[in-house]
Amino acid sequence: MTIKTAIFKGVATIEIARPEKKNALTVAMYQAMADALNSAREDNAVRAVLITGQPGIFTSGNDIEDFMARAPGQGSEAGDSPVFLFMRALMACDKPVVAAVTGAAIGIGTTLLLHCDFVYVSDEARLAMPFVALGLVPEFASSVLVPQLMGHRKAAEKLLLGDPFTPEQAVDCGIANAVLPASEVVNHARRIAERFNNLPPGAVREAKQLLRQPQHDSLLATIQAEGEIFGRRLRSPETMEAFQAFFQKRQPDFSKF
Ligand code: COA
Repeated sequence: MTIKTAIFKGVATIEIARPEKKNALTVAMYQAMADALNSAREDNAVRAVLITGQPGIFTSGNDIEDFMARAPGQGSEAGDSPVFLFMRALMACDKPVVAAVTGAAIGIGTTLLLHCDFVYVSDEARLAMPFVALGLVPEFASSVLVPQLMGHRKAAEKLLLGDPFTPEQAVDCGIANAVLPASEVVNHARRIAERFNNLPPGAVREAKQLLRQPQHDSLLATIQAEGEIFGRRLRSPETMEAFQAFFQKRQPDFSKF
């Protein structure tokens, strides 16, 4: 089981559970998360969604082996790939989404947080978006949302250099709400999600839509533009070198490019 789902006290929980691979996300896992989000949206008993990981690891991002074997398509077919279905379901979820970042959140692990409503981070977590170091580019509107949150210069550290950042920095730059001790982060996030049991669901839904609507269309256009470049770069020699270096547990050598 790599994605566990449960509904308890009005909260639909999506738990990433593949600790032996540091919760790396495969095509099947994206599809399971997309399905869970869409079901949560339809289910009147669900008032909020909680996304969480395993102790010490939220997710190490896209499964690199899967990327090499099954890179999302380019152009129009890219939109049908499970990663796009998942991110679109996340963006379209009209119920509050709370993330409990239980440990490292890398690549899409950090990108997805930009589309959640509440983010609570373990004091042992690290966040990073090392796309450029992998020969790739920012994805799912992070090229717009990250500079919007923290300004161009700090965004350049995170998105061009791929510098990891601490939970406290994630709060300072507005990606996260608060840092919690590792042992408390999931319970705290769950308590926040459960508060929506006592709020009127129609008002919550419409208020969330109002918060998200102003940027909705432009973010979708950005995602499309980023996706075209990302899909092309996934097949680039620079990315092949970076992926091979990861599996060979060595530093990549970009000197020949
Ligand atoms: N894709 C595929 N496999 C991954 C993975 C990923 N994103 N992240 C970790 N794994 C695998 C490792 O290959 C290793 O497998 P093995 O036991 O068969 O050798 C296992 O998970 C444990 O990972 P390891 O690197 O040994 O753990 P660590 O504690 O030393 O480091 C991370 C943890 C998350 C810092 C490190 O695994 C990492 O940097 N992962 C890649 C992150 C990344 O670049 N993600 C962006 C993808 S776009």
